[in-house]
Order: sequence, then structure tokens, then C-alpha cells
Amino acid sequence: MAEQPQTTPQTIGIIMNGVSGRMGYRQHLVRSILAIREQGGVLLADGETRVQVEPILVGRSEKKLADLAAEHGIEHYTTNLDEALADDRWQIYADFLVTKARAAALKKAIAAGKAIYTEKPTAESFEEALELARLAEEAGIKNGVVHDKLYLPGLQKLKRLIDSGFFGRILSVRGEFGYWVFEGDWQPAQRPSWNYRAEDGGGIIVDMFPHWNYVLENLFGRVESVYAKAVTEIPERVDERGERYPATADDAAYAIFELEGGVVAQLNSSWTTRVNRDELVEFQVDGTHGSAVVGLFGCKIQPRNATPKPVWNPDLADEHDYAGDWIESPGNREFENGFKTQWEEFIRHVVEDAPNHYDFLAGARGVLLAEAGLRSSAEGRRVEIPVVDVPTAPVTTGDASAAGADLATELAGLR
Ligand SMILES: NC(=O)c1ccc[n+]([C@@H]2O[C@H](COP(=O)([O-])OP(=O)(O)OC[C@H]3O[C@@H](n4cnc5c(N)ncnc54)[C@H](O)[C@@H]3O)[C@@H](O)[C@H]2O)c1
Repeated sequence: MAEQPQTTPQTIGIIMNGVSGRMGYRQHLVRSILAIREQGGVLLADGETRVQVEPILVGRSEKKLADLAAEHGIEHYTTNLDEALADDRWQIYADFLVTKARAAALKKAIAAGKAIYTEKPTAESFEEALELARLAEEAGIKNGVVHDKLYLPGLQKLKRLIDSGFFGRILSVRGEFGYWVFEGDWQPAQRPSWNYRAEDGGGIIVDMFPHWNYVLENLFGRVESVYAKAVTEIPERVDERGERYPATADDAAYAIFELEGGVVAQLNSSWTTRVNRDELVEFQVDGTHGSAVVGLFGCKIQPRNATPKPVWNPDLADEHDYAGDWIESPGNREFENGFKTQWEEFIRHVVEDAPNHYDFLAGARGVLLAEAGLRSSAEGRRVEIPVVDVPTAPVTTGDASAAGADLATELAGLR
């Protein structure tokens, strides 16, 4: 970037596509970009210079965009993505569309030479996700994928525990994610209906396994294999217009992941369970020297030397207060909204080349895990996950040098 006088804040233009949606509006527009604008921009590494953000809203409904722009004091909006992409005022393209519409839009943004920041999953198939990584690398554009769960206070505290050596040798991870999503008949559903239609990019595996992949690989080790059982517990639901539709996608998935280094992770994902935990997601990590239970915010620990010694006795009701044995781990710092923090990191990556590990290739690994999970369920067997790298040739040619390309071809049979 050109040197700017310290007193003149630079501005970075961001095309925000899909801001009328749940994630686009609340997390990306309001909680991230508008919050960054409100604070005067992103602070750069020198600790003084700020880069201000200037969004342009993109969508299909001019009325919705005009209303949003007016409500939030945003100057620019358009229904014409191509025009926005052709305009040099906008350096970043950001995508929060329904999954099905994403890959085509990302390809246009790559061709236009924009830096790209996108929601997960990056594509509907691993083959396409890997191709996006290749195209982005060939075009030399900066690219990032949302890894929001890693920024949750609970997971940040967990990372700190891991880094401190608290666990000793980590043995296993057990996670529960889920809550009841209403069917839509007698109470409206609290998630969009496309989530329950496979043909529209829905399904809990496609939705959650990309998250599980980056959580596992960044905290515990690369995912080496998956065994998953996907089910559609509620076969019919009612959509936003009150019409019944067949639910063709999985709404619950029970999975075991084997990780590099020997850790076993067992994660349940369900939109058909009722919550009996402190938070909507919770992970228990057991290690030789201690255990932790973390959620979105909370983090409880039990070190080896504060571990009770239960004895199994079915003849006597156990009066021990097991919950009382745990110690709440303090935050010791402020945690900001994770979407905003990752946005700031990505903007620094674009502006001053700060590091970014959460790129399209990381996104493709998430899509791969989802695809492998679906295959595992369909075939009733454990599926190994190869190490993937950006291929040097289009994946559709079946280039043998790309481990991922072979798997992509193999997995294509799934769809
Ligand atoms: N990071 C997370 O925790 C998280 C959570 C939920 C969803 N997501 C992801 O975010 C994305 C959006 O999910 P959502 O729940 O906000 O969905 P949503 O249905 O609320 O919003 C989707 C947006 O896409 C637009 N859209 C729909 N069909 C389109 C089409 N054919 N062409 C162009 N635009 C279209 C809609 O107008 C809307 O703006 C999905 O890819 C989903 O996987 C991520």
C-alpha cells in the first residue's frame, strides 16, 4: 500500500453481498463492519494508523438495500454485483449468500481481482472449494474464510489452557452442539428452510462439519478420519410462507473424528435435541493432567489433583456433587465479537500483509470433511481424510499430483 500521512486515515471499500440474510446483517454488517466504522476503523500494526471501512451493500432487492442503507447511514448500495466488482473503489468482496449461490459469486470476484472474505462453506462440493483455492492462488488475490468459533471466549480460554500445558497429554474431546429447531407448523422455525433441503445446500453436516474441521485442526490436530451417522429426524417441515415441504437434508449427525497425534473427538450436531447443558455448544476435553468443559463463553476446569475418586455402586444413590468439583476459569481480558475480530485481522492482512491462516484452502478442508462425513454415513464406514494442497492444475483433470483431486473424483459419486 502507498504510504499515507498519519493524519489521513485510509479507507478500504468493501462489497457486502447478502446483507439481508441472518449472518450478513447481524454478524457481518452490524456487529463487524458498522462496529469497525463506529470505532474509527481498524488499527494497524504501528498502533497509530487506522484504516476506515466503507461498505457498499449488494443484494437482489433494491427496497431492502435502500431500507438498510437508510437505517444505518450507508451511502452506497446496488443490485448490480458486476458493476460493483468492476469499480476500483471497492477492494474487498465479502460473501454471505446462501451456500448454493456462493461459488459462482466468488469466481466473479476472483476474476475481478478483489480480495475476498467469505462465509463458510466456501462451496457445495470439495472439488469446487479446491478449485476456488486454486483460482485465488493463480490470481494472486488475498482470501479469507470465516472461522468464528475459534474466536469464541470459551474456545479462546481453551486455547490458553492447551498452550499452558494444563491438560498434559490430551486424550479425547467430546462435543455437543444443538438445540430444537421448530418444525414451522405451530411455531415458526428459527432457521431458514433451505437448511433442511439438500438440493438447496442444506443439512447439518454441510453446515457444521466445516466448523468442526477448523476447530479440531487448530486446537488439537489435523482430522485424519471420520465416521459419521447422519439422520433426518423430522421428515417434513413448514417453510417461511407456511407451506409444507419434505426435509431432504440431515438434521442430526453423530460423528467420531480421529486426529493427528491420537486424540479422538466425538461430536454430536443436532437441530432435534433439547438443551440440557449450560450452553448451545459444549466441549469436554480430557487430558492426563486435567479436564475442561468449555462453551461459547464459559470454561470450567478440573486439574488432576482436584479429581474425585468415584466408585461404581448401583446399590447406593451417589450424593457427591460432581458439578461442584469444577473451577471456573476466568477470562482475564475483554473478548470482542469474534466475527469483528476476524474481520479486523483480515483487513490487516489485506492492507499490511498481516498473517492469515484461514484461507480458501482451509475452507476447502472444511468442505472436504463435510463431504467425507456424508460419504461415511451413506456407506456405513470410516473415511480417511487425505492431506490436501492447492492443486497446480484444474481438479477436474484428475491431476494425480493433487491428493485432493483424487478424493474429489472419488467423492463426486456421493452427490
Ligand atoms: N459462521 C456461522 O456461524 C454461520 C451460521 C449460519 C450460517 N452461516 C453461513 O452463512 C451463509 C448464509 O446463511 P444465513 O443463515 O444467513 O442464510 P439466510 O437465508 O438468512 O441469508 C441468505 C442471503 O442470501 C441471499 N440469497 C438467497 N438466495 C440467493 C440467490 N439465489 N442468489 C443471491 N442471493 C441469494 C438472501 O437474500 C440473503 O441475503 C450460509 O452459507 C451459511 O452456511 C454461517
